[in-house]
Amino acid sequence: MNVRENVSLKDFNTFGIDAKANRYTNITTLNDLKYILKTEAPKPIFILGGGSNMLLTNDIDALVFHINLKGTKILEETVNHAIVEAQAGENWHEFVLWCLENNLGGIENLSLIPGNIGTAPIQNIGAYGVELKDVFHSCNAINIKTQEIKTFSKLDCQFGYRESIFKRGLKSKYIITSVCLQLTKNNHKLQTDYGAITSELGRLKIENPSIKDVSKAVINIRQSKLPDPKQIGNSGSFFKNPIISKIQFEELKKDFPNAPHYIISETEIKIPAGWLIEIAGFKGKRFGNYGVHNKQALVLVNYGEALGEDIFKLAKLIQKTVLRLFDIKIETEVNII
Ligand code: EPU
Repeated sequence: MNVRENVSLKDFNTFGIDAKANRYTNITTLNDLKYILKTEAPKPIFILGGGSNMLLTNDIDALVFHINLKGTKILEETVNHAIVEAQAGENWHEFVLWCLENNLGGIENLSLIPGNIGTAPIQNIGAYGVELKDVFHSCNAINIKTQEIKTFSKLDCQFGYRESIFKRGLKSKYIITSVCLQLTKNNHKLQTDYGAITSELGRLKIENPSIKDVSKAVINIRQSKLPDPKQIGNSGSFFKNPIISKIQFEELKKDFPNAPHYIISETEIKIPAGWLIEIAGFKGKRFGNYGVHNKQALVLVNYGEALGEDIFKLAKLIQKTVLRLFDIKIETEVNII
């Protein structure tokens, strides 16, 4: 374990922003993590996982802990279920593929989501009708101040839509070190009724899909809409889908009778932010090195050497325009650093 100075974070964030860490350390063992937390406290630290949900608008004047704890294993199993533990630094999609190879079901709809296991619970990653919370068993996390390891149950995590206690009350207090998921070994409960999955399976001429088939369909859909961060820097959905009142939705419908929406409750409706941004005229707009993706307006992209602050300015312009046009506030999903 060593600490390096003035390290570029370009390769460690999926937006590909060339911000620098004042100090940087790569953490590969729990003992190193405990030791360096103890010796560095109470100096400022910054926790970096897969770097897939952040926009760096500044250099980081702190010691960056790059969490690269590795390892995946089956902890317990019954006839029908397995509890799998993966260390925080495992890549999410590689973990999904490992589960598919071992015929473990439950996360096939979450294929190809960028990022690492350790950050998945923080924002309760979700796609195509499934959220991490649906299969979450528990996670282990280290208290930054005391270096004690605590196990958090699903209830403890207080999951919501792209939300958890790690984004709210416990923000910057814990580092997640491993995550345990409860997956199915047989009788997999496939979720194929969301969006384009059924039609994609039809196109692939698959009648009785396996978990691998569902994963394949999700991968195809994602690849057709979402830019690959290895080719074009991005952080997936930049904004959350806003939830508005039914009364406001009725107003919106007067101008846009076909507005896409999801009913959340008797009084609340979720509107796809991508649609609002498209109607506001931003879809596919390019401003030099950065812009709005042309196939999914919810995704902001870095075409080259864009600065985080430029992308942030664009995000604020989009928020302001959507607020002016629709009287709807859209919040960022990505963490602005
Ligand atoms: N839409 C548009 N224009 C656009 C984009 C979307 O009109 O440019 C409308 C369409 O009507 C479409 C609807 O929005 O039917 C929904 O679009 P999509 O299925 O692409 O999903 P989303 O609501 O925009 C959410 C997640 C994604 C996830 C998809 C699929 C959030 C913030 N985003 O996007 O998650 O992959 O559903 O489940 O909830 C991510 O979090 O990084 C992410 C990519």
